[in-house]
Amino acid sequence: MKNTTETFRNAKTKQEKLVMLTAYDYSTAKIIDSCDINGILVGDSLGMVCLGYENTLSVTMEDMIHHTKAVVRGAKNTLVVADLPFMSYQTSIYDAVFNAGRLIKEGHATAIKLEGGALVCDRIKAIVDAQIPVMGHIGLTPQSVNAFGGFKIQGKSIDKAKQLIEDAKKIEEAGAFAITLEGIPEKLAKLITESINIPTIGIGAGKYCDGQILVYQDMLGMFDDLAPKFVKKYGDIGKNMREAFNSYAKEVRSSAFPDEAHSFKIDQNIIDELIK
Ligand code: KIV
Repeated sequence: MKNTTETFRNAKTKQEKLVMLTAYDYSTAKIIDSCDINGILVGDSLGMVCLGYENTLSVTMEDMIHHTKAVVRGAKNTLVVADLPFMSYQTSIYDAVFNAGRLIKEGHATAIKLEGGALVCDRIKAIVDAQIPVMGHIGLTPQSVNAFGGFKIQGKSIDKAKQLIEDAKKIEEAGAFAITLEGIPEKLAKLITESINIPTIGIGAGKYCDGQILVYQDMLGMFDDLAPKFVKKYGDIGKNMREAFNSYAKEVRSSAFPDEAHSFKIDQNIIDELIK
């Protein structure tokens, strides 16, 4: 069944948990799309897990469009949400609408996500008015890493917690169809989830969110530059890849690969003719 923003809105009413993963390329998107997953986020986390930057700040609109196009080709039933990268919407409402439009027109995403609370609600409203569905994102928003002084859990003081509840309400009012809650205490995420009518998608925000998202390389053990406490490993594909790459190297060096089963034949008469 095709997942849409309507599916997301209805899931909250029906108290059905939403499940999302990130993806950045065609073949991964195709595998995810064949599973029971509601949404794919083409996250600007691609800057870290695909491009090797130490944070997400260097990701460009061109990077996002390039990877979003690839993911959309592999995702037939999954809702594809693409991230607006750092400085593509902070600069003005015009830039926000223009760049959100590029992710839809050129990247072929169905919805966009941007980071921030009350301060970005004018952008959210303008993008929604342009008929583009928006997912909000509050808490440990990675584009604010320098302002936060590192990747730190947010909302631990009374003022910060109140601010996050207010931010979530304002994002809903601005017209977003869902909000990502990242890196906030479980009980605060529960309060936020209960105080709004749109679904919350948690990452490092505990079990009371309406859904969950993980970066696929994190949950498959393919990326170990950072090891956040909230990541559960559902596989050790990194280990499997290393084993497979080493077996391949060993077999090439010992001439065990390619063997007969992986090679092509030619009539011996032709070879005889060629070497006579
Ligand atoms: O960029 C990303 O992958 C994200 C998720 C961590 C929510 O924003």
